[in-house]
Amino acid sequence: MRISVIGCGYLGAVHASAMAELGHEVVGIDIDAHRVAELAAGRPPFFEPGLPEILTSATASGRLRFSTDMADAAGAEVHFVAVGTPQSPGTDAADLRYVDAAFEALLPHLAEGALVVGKSTVPVGTAARLAARVAQVAPSASVAWNPEFLREGFAVKDTIEPDRLVYGVGDDHAASVLDLVYRAAIEAGTPRIVTDYATAELVKVAANAFLATKISFINAMAEIAEVSGADVTQLADAIGHDARIGRRFLNAGVGFGGGCLPKDIRAFAARAEELGRGDSVGFLREVDAINLRRRQRVVDLAVDALGGSVNERKIAVLGVSFKPDSDDVRDSPALDVAVQLKGLGARVVATDPQGIENARLRHPQLEYSASTRETLLDAELVVLVTEWPEYCALDPAEAGGLVSGRRIIDGRNVLDPRAWRATGWSYLGLGRP
Ligand code: UGA
Repeated sequence: MRISVIGCGYLGAVHASAMAELGHEVVGIDIDAHRVAELAAGRPPFFEPGLPEILTSATASGRLRFSTDMADAAGAEVHFVAVGTPQSPGTDAADLRYVDAAFEALLPHLAEGALVVGKSTVPVGTAARLAARVAQVAPSASVAWNPEFLREGFAVKDTIEPDRLVYGVGDDHAASVLDLVYRAAIEAGTPRIVTDYATAELVKVAANAFLATKISFINAMAEIAEVSGADVTQLADAIGHDARIGRRFLNAGVGFGGGCLPKDIRAFAARAEELGRGDSVGFLREVDAINLRRRQRVVDLAVDALGGSVNERKIAVLGVSFKPDSDDVRDSPALDVAVQLKGLGARVVATDPQGIENARLRHPQLEYSASTRETLLDAELVVLVTEWPEYCALDPAEAGGLVSGRRIIDGRNVLDPRAWRATGWSYLGLGRP
């Protein structure tokens, strides 16, 4: 099929490449000329395992092009809108200006019978509003909302082999067009759920709200474990064996971050308030508060570990990205901890296998090192805040030979406390005795 993807950020660049990989003829449109040039040259503007390979093969095959000119989207049968919906400055609501602008810019180029498919995460009610606008200007075109559930770090696989497809549609025709787009996944037996617009929009935010709640639930248990001497990691293992609960997303630690979960739960709460049902998801405010408290907890532990002040003390921070296999530092708990410690006067040196460049753009005041060894050298305290495999595999004896004080805070509960303590380290986890 001939497809356009409007917005070539995280979601759009992966979606465009994956659609071309599946055999469609795709044009990716973005207003950022630098981004378009990089993508056209086969270089993704962010770190995502597997993306460079499919981007290169799809551009080489001629099935994937990129452009800054919306007119290049004109011939497509299906247009995916994958622009960002960040948190609005000063409020919790989603900022819809990019979605609205993308629809407006696309309208004059819609071919007879084209389908416009929203992929961006939007407040419930947005799709119906945009469908009405499309109907005004291009009556033969239709609108669908097709939320995306990809995880950073697994984005390519999640797009090519999704665990479910959700189509929010206004008519049956839209669903049959989407079936052609996703033929490979459908033939492989991927569950497909066809809904109205509102349900599809809510599926997306409900999924992220549930995941965030699960993480904050276990972090709340970590807080109780901290005042009662229990071990939250064992608690998670034990309750996780109940298949109704499940062990995934029950890792207590410094909490969730990234470009999705934090802003999505805030936007959901804000939208529910607009609809007069703020009370229904009032717990999401608590989920957010618990999550942010865990960052503070790590900072407090650091101050305590250094005897009441971190001023002028060297602290090694392992990790700045919001999770491993990503260079994304948006709302990253790891980077937030580093910044707070720096604000308290510590000599923070932060490292990360992929995230340093992005972190430096946001927080140039921090000192960064690409080398774990150099980061650890002469540190009086080590704070592990992103569980990259290389940090999980650190050897306590070897690391102990580099630092000047054997103190470690395991902000992701990924190290073996016994092994670290056995080599003379003072080990502090979150919600672990
Ligand atoms: C999340 C959802 O998992 C995706 O399904 C969704 O499509 C995406 O948001 C989105 O809306 O675009 P992502 O932001 O890539 O994906 O990251 P997750 O893997 O969900 O992790 C989010 C955060 O939770 C990370 O900071 C991670 O470290 C933290 N986390 C995760 C925990 O603290 N504990 C856990 O047990 C699991």
